[in-house]
Amino acid sequence: MRNAKLDTWVEEVAALCKPDRVHWCDGSAAEHDEMIRLMVHAGTAVPLSGDKRPDSVLVRSHPADVARVEDRTFICSARPEDAGPTNNWADPAEMKATLNGLFDGCMAGRTMYVIPYSMGPVGSPIANIGVEITDSPYVVANMHLMTRVGTRVLEVLGPDGEFVRGLHSVGMPLGPNEPDVPWPHNIEHKYITHFPETREIMSFGSGYGGNALLGKKCHALRIASVQARDEGWLAEHMLILKLTNPEGRTYYITGAFPSACGKTNLAMLEPTLPGWKVQTVGEDIAWMKLGADGRLRAINPEAGFFGVAPGTGMGSNPNAMRTLTDRAIYTNCAITGDGDVWWEGMSDEPPGDLTDWLRRPYQGTLRKAAHPNARFTVAAQQCPVIADEWEDPAGVPIDAILFGGRRTNTIPLVTEAFDWTHGTFMGATAGSETTAAAVGAVGQLRRDPMAMLPFCGYNMADYWGHWLSFEGRTETSKLPKVFFVNWFRKGADGKFLWPGYGDNSRVLKWVTERIEGTGQAVDTPIGRLPAPGALDLSGLSLHDGAMDQLLSVDVDGWLSEVALIREHFGRFGDRLPDAMARSVDELEARLQAAGVPAGAR
Ligand code: OXD
Ligand code: MN
Repeated sequence: MRNAKLDTWVEEVAALCKPDRVHWCDGSAAEHDEMIRLMVHAGTAVPLSGDKRPDSVLVRSHPADVARVEDRTFICSARPEDAGPTNNWADPAEMKATLNGLFDGCMAGRTMYVIPYSMGPVGSPIANIGVEITDSPYVVANMHLMTRVGTRVLEVLGPDGEFVRGLHSVGMPLGPNEPDVPWPHNIEHKYITHFPETREIMSFGSGYGGNALLGKKCHALRIASVQARDEGWLAEHMLILKLTNPEGRTYYITGAFPSACGKTNLAMLEPTLPGWKVQTVGEDIAWMKLGADGRLRAINPEAGFFGVAPGTGMGSNPNAMRTLTDRAIYTNCAITGDGDVWWEGMSDEPPGDLTDWLRRPYQGTLRKAAHPNARFTVAAQQCPVIADEWEDPAGVPIDAILFGGRRTNTIPLVTEAFDWTHGTFMGATAGSETTAAAVGAVGQLRRDPMAMLPFCGYNMADYWGHWLSFEGRTETSKLPKVFFVNWFRKGADGKFLWPGYGDNSRVLKWVTERIEGTGQAVDTPIGRLPAPGALDLSGLSLHDGAMDQLLSVDVDGWLSEVALIREHFGRFGDRLPDAMARSVDELEARLQAAGVPAGAR
């Protein structure tokens, strides 16, 4: 029962790329072991100590291939206005011509792997099938952990099922007697391209992360966001957590935060509040569809975590550390003399005898031991706090949505939106300081709407329109409540005002109280803030005045923010939904009318 479209496509790709051989992936453990063996043999990977990290390897990439390349990422929709001002657009026919030139013969000397995968539990009505063709064993091994791969998927696909086509090559063909290098990639040409109308992805020249594991950002976000628009659902850059209060009531909360802003930490948080429990459904991507009951239900389309390693330790994310016991792939971490991995933040003191990610003896704090975007790849089911229902094909009903970013000033610890439109406005205007997850300067404020700036496969203004449309698709009372959070505000001394991590459970508690209608809030020009005393701060000692700063409205700061929001919205011209234009006018009017609101102090 072969899928004729798939067979034809594989034949066409093989004819173009001219690999030495073609391998259809079955997703088995033996296949995974074989990929690891090939990587070790090629010098791509080193096995870690069987005592410390059983069945795990460290991979070190080329220093010029360490993160997503946003300036080389293209949305090739038929019309440029459908990609919108936040995406790089290229004409689909011209881009295909360029890429066909690059892909011609690009797999010579290599094996071409065909990876049938499911995003979401195999056969779930919310899941979606893709096939990635790649010449990288590293990609195959990572896809095994990050998605559901193999023969089962082909069975669900059936003889005429549709699938997303993803073609990937490291872009480094080998001559007959040419030895391979540990990290093949193409130094000159890198293209991460998407053809939303035909649901195709073509990625050339990079072997790293979201550039190469096409199920993740390319399929589950850029292509899926377009599918979601067409079919009336949402594909989002969000964690999904299950929160249980001391009375045993459970809530499902999603959170959209830009890359490397703590989604994984929040999804696995250990609450400092006694009796509260957080379990993980997903830590990077959520697909949400309206269920028969009119509520938004979310699935995690992924099967594993591709987490940022630096900053992850027993203090910041003990559950991630407990997930990393065995069967993991580490990329661009440092290695210890006794075959363990290490990164900044794993422990206060680096172990002795450390080799940095560039294979040099570690020289103290002068240079980072691990690359700031070093990663671990591991199966989600190894997480000790994975929720029982994480693979429920029906998804989990969402009670609240958090938006957030990394903001040193202006933005309070938590603000509740007045309604769905205001919540969409909060998401649409989210700003964050940039991190090492993408190539480029770190620490610069940029607008990252719904944390989807690098991941929305169509015009961002239309995407906001799509968000707004949910009010017409179900009863307003059934939509999740929306909140904006900021764990990263700093005081005048440059230190964080809020401890973050497990103490973020205090904010989650208030969120659930707002859902129940018991939590106290005050209306301010920017939204609803916790009333004095409404946040549970028991057992927490903060600097004097920290709470005032965390929960006050900085009117001047916000008026500057309004100017930035107008600039941001201005980029979208008349494509901007009226409700968004009105929301910024209303915000400004409220700020001007209020001056400094006593209620919020
Ligand atoms: C990721 C990212 O890899 O957002 O999840 O960069
Ligand atoms: Mn991400």
